[in-house]
Amino acid sequence: MARTPLIAGNWKMNLDHLQAVAFVQKLHWTLKDAGHEDGSVEVAVFPPFTDIRTVQTLIDADKIPFALGAQDLSTKDAGAYTGEISGAFLKKLDCGYVIIGHSERRDYHGETDEIVAAKVQAALKHGLVPVICVGETLEQREESGPTAVSVAQLTVALEGVPADAEFVVAYEPVWAIGTGQVASPEQAQEVCAALRAVIADTLGADAAERTRVLYGGSVKSGNIASFMREPDVDGALVGGASLVAEEFAAIIRYQKHVGV
Ligand code: PGA
Repeated sequence: MARTPLIAGNWKMNLDHLQAVAFVQKLHWTLKDAGHEDGSVEVAVFPPFTDIRTVQTLIDADKIPFALGAQDLSTKDAGAYTGEISGAFLKKLDCGYVIIGHSERRDYHGETDEIVAAKVQAALKHGLVPVICVGETLEQREESGPTAVSVAQLTVALEGVPADAEFVVAYEPVWAIGTGQVASPEQAQEVCAALRAVIADTLGADAAERTRVLYGGSVKSGNIASFMREPDVDGALVGGASLVAEEFAAIIRYQKHVGV
């Protein structure tokens, strides 16, 4: 079963709702002009919460074939949780995906593996596909090797997840995020293969076969093709380079501009 590649743009705290309109339109027309809205690659955008309604309306009105996702969600459904956003609200806005456990959330907001696991459950409960982020710091890589931290993080995140659940895993080495210090394709492959093995051990061979495992960390149009050649890398979670429409379009078109 071939896995459809997923190229996901994590905007982080960039682009307000007006800038979002201009960006999404430009990305759509750039891809359309290039004949690259053929479904061979799934494109997903993850705007800040305040943009989601606007982007949803635009995607709907112009029949733009991008999936929509949020960058986080609450573990709770509703109630006295000031500043939190429920998965139910995201689903109402046609979000298909939600990023969970990004290293910036783990680092700046103290999200533990247990919180990440609770958020995965919340996402599944509301019919959202969690994009579970894992990855090691440079120190951890030196201490315990390339795969141990990611394997441990994913193992906890998958506790209680049913074997038929749809989810995505993103391997994002902390030392490669926003640093320009990109992992080598071989390094990405090694960890992505280990993560697929965790899925196989926990949820079975079918789940491992159909689940997409992404690489993230300083992905650009110049290096995407080398990652996509690796058998266990099914796409990319892109930060900085997802904010420039031409550059993100070139990443999505990796098959065309560099033969894979
Ligand atoms: P980057 O971010 O592409 O800017 O390195 C990736 C991410 O944090 O998802």
